Parts: sequence; C-alpha cells; structure tokens
Amino acid sequence: MATDRLAKRPFGSGRLMTPPIAVGCAPMGSMTEAFGYAVSEEDAVATIATALAGPINFIDTAALYGDGVSETRVGKGLAALGGLPEGAVLQTKQGRNPKDNDYSGDTVKWRMERSLQLLGVDRVDAVYLHDAEWTTFEEAMAPGGPVEVLQKFKDEGVFDYLGVAAGPNEVELQYIETGQFDAVITHNRYTLLNQNANPVIDAAHERGMAVLNAAPYGSGILVRGPESYPRYAYSEAPDAMIERTLVLREICDRYGVPLAAAAVQFSTLDPRIDVTIIGMSHPDRLAQTIEFATIEIPDACWEEINALPALPQDNPEERRYSEKLPYEK
Ligand SMILES: NC(=O)c1ccc[n+]([C@@H]2O[C@H](COP(=O)([O-])OP(=O)(O)OC[C@H]3O[C@@H](n4cnc5c(N)ncnc54)[C@H](OP(=O)(O)O)[C@@H]3O)[C@@H](O)[C@H]2O)c1
Repeated sequence: MATDRLAKRPFGSGRLMTPPIAVGCAPMGSMTEAFGYAVSEEDAVATIATALAGPINFIDTAALYGDGVSETRVGKGLAALGGLPEGAVLQTKQGRNPKDNDYSGDTVKWRMERSLQLLGVDRVDAVYLHDAEWTTFEEAMAPGGPVEVLQKFKDEGVFDYLGVAAGPNEVELQYIETGQFDAVITHNRYTLLNQNANPVIDAAHERGMAVLNAAPYGSGILVRGPESYPRYAYSEAPDAMIERTLVLREICDRYGVPLAAAAVQFSTLDPRIDVTIIGMSHPDRLAQTIEFATIEIPDACWEEINALPALPQDNPEERRYSEKLPYEK
C-alpha cells in the first residue's frame, strides 16, 4: 500500500496543507431525495470523529446540505472533540436559501453567520459560492451581492480561501476568470464515467487555484455497483453509463482491483487535482477509503481503462444534471 499517497500537500498557492481527500458531508444532511437513504445523527457524528482522528482530517460541508442538518452534525462531532483538532481542515459553502431560492447578499450573510454557529467555530479554512448556477454572474458579482459579502467575511479573517463550486463548465469558468477566487470545486464531471470538467480543472490549475474534485463515485454507482445503485449525480443513470460501469468493473475484476479504488485514484493521482471530496456517512468508510486510495493498481489495468472509447463530452444526459440537481429544486 502506498500510504505516502495520503501525505499532506499545499492547497493551491496558499500556506494551508491538506490531505488529498476530504470527507464529503452531503450524505450527512440526510437528503433522501438525493441519495435515496436517510442518515442518523449518530452515524454522522461518529464518521466525523473517525475522520478527524486519522489522515483524512478534512471536512467538506455546506449550509445547503439538509439546510443546516449536515453542519449541525459536523458541529456536534467537533464539540465532542473539544473543537477542530490542530491540523484538521474545515470548509463550507454558501448560496441560496432552499426555502425561497433567494441568493442575495443578505441571504448569504445570515447563512454564513448561521454556519459558524452550527459548526461551533469562529472561523473555517475555506468558503465557496455554492451552486452558482442558481443566480446570474451579474447578480452574484454586483455591489452588496453574495460575492462581495463573502469577500468581506474573508477580509475579516473568517476564512482564508474564497472558492466557487458550481455545475456547468461555463459558470465555473466565468468565476475562475475573475481572478477573485482561490479555489474551485467541480462535481460529478471528472470521474471514470464523465470527464466534462477537464477545461475547468485545467483553467483553475493553470492559475494556481486549489482544485477540488467532488463525487468521484458519481454519487455512488462506482462504489456500490449499478445493480444496487443505478444512479449518477443524484438521478437515474443513463443506460450508457451503466454499461460503461459494467465494462470498467470487468476490467478491474481481472486485475483483482476494486472498481472503487480505480474511481478514487483516477482523481487522486491526477496532478492537477489537490483534493478529492468523497461523500460518506459511516465510520467504517474511512478505512475503506484509505484502502481504495492506496492499493497499487497495475499499469496494465490503467492501460485498459484508458483505452476505452472517449465518453461523449456534451450529451443530453449530462445537460440534465448540469443545470440543477434534483435535490436542490
Ligand atoms: N456543488 C458542490 O459543491 C458539490 C456537489 C456535489 C458534491 N459535493 C461534495 O462532494 C462530496 C462527494 O459527493 P457525493 O457525496 O455526492 O458523491 P460520491 O462521493 O461520488 O459518493 C458518495 C456515496 O458513496 C457512498 N460510499 C462512499 N464510500 C463508500 C464505501 N467505502 N462503500 C460503499 N459506499 C460508499 C456513500 O455512502 P454512505 O453515505 O453510505 O457512506 C455515498 O452514498 C459531497 O458529499 C459534498 O461534500 C459538492
């Protein structure tokens, strides 16, 4: 096992050092519509405690996940440990109010204040403009708008890194090109099944921004298998993706490699990606994730995976979840 693969590395061009994997806390928001199952507070808090005691001590949450439920649970996990342990990393995201979809500066301000309260901290490492496709670039960047509000929190020392976390490439690229953002999160678009985010990853990496790739399992299919989880990015997976998953698994099986390990390492071994965010809600997921990230995958296995025909770059299925995720409606 190559355990040095979990060594901390610089986060973008700042001084922060982070592990290459973060614990994604969307499932801990218990959003049954998105993931198809509920998560208990007990499991969520135990997962946070296990993560913070090990090498993957980087927590990614958002005000949107269960509209405060995920942050409340992260906060309980932190409180049980007497606060965020030395060297651990915490980030959250701010955007619209899911009750009325208001994405104004005022909404982002009160939700940021609520996040700090729920998390039980007075600062975090990074905050992202969340699901920026739910507002327009002009409104987000206007005086008094959400970006200015977040920038003010940053100037006051509430966090060090301002990031953007959107879906469609064109939205991500607009914010990246402002030069005002230190980090970017892409999701479900750089996996073994969909690589549409390549231009976003390239643009952010070339600028020295921190690049975070979320949902390497495409929300679950690449770890649970298409039989038990025939979904991609929180919706029913198209047939072509299910077929591709079966082909990928057949290749991995021949080399004795779990498909999930290839899914994780596809992202973690990419030199452009600083952090891979993996969603989980059980304490035993940490050890499983470490195994997936560190087992050796033979070159011949990668060669077979890489030899598969390219995936369509802009197919109708991709557009379907590019716009808005179902759990956010
Ligand atoms: N707009 C954005 O900024 C954005 C969008 C999407 C995601 N994200 C972030 O990125 C994270 C990752 O995305 P995601 O959670 O949607 O998808 P994901 O990481 O591709 O997959 C998460 C799913 O995989 C399951 N899983 C994880 N490890 C497993 C294991 N060892 N065995 C079996 N199942 C396993 C989890 O189940 P359990 O719950 O049972 O552990 C969960 O259902 C999110 O949680 C969130 O923090 C951000």
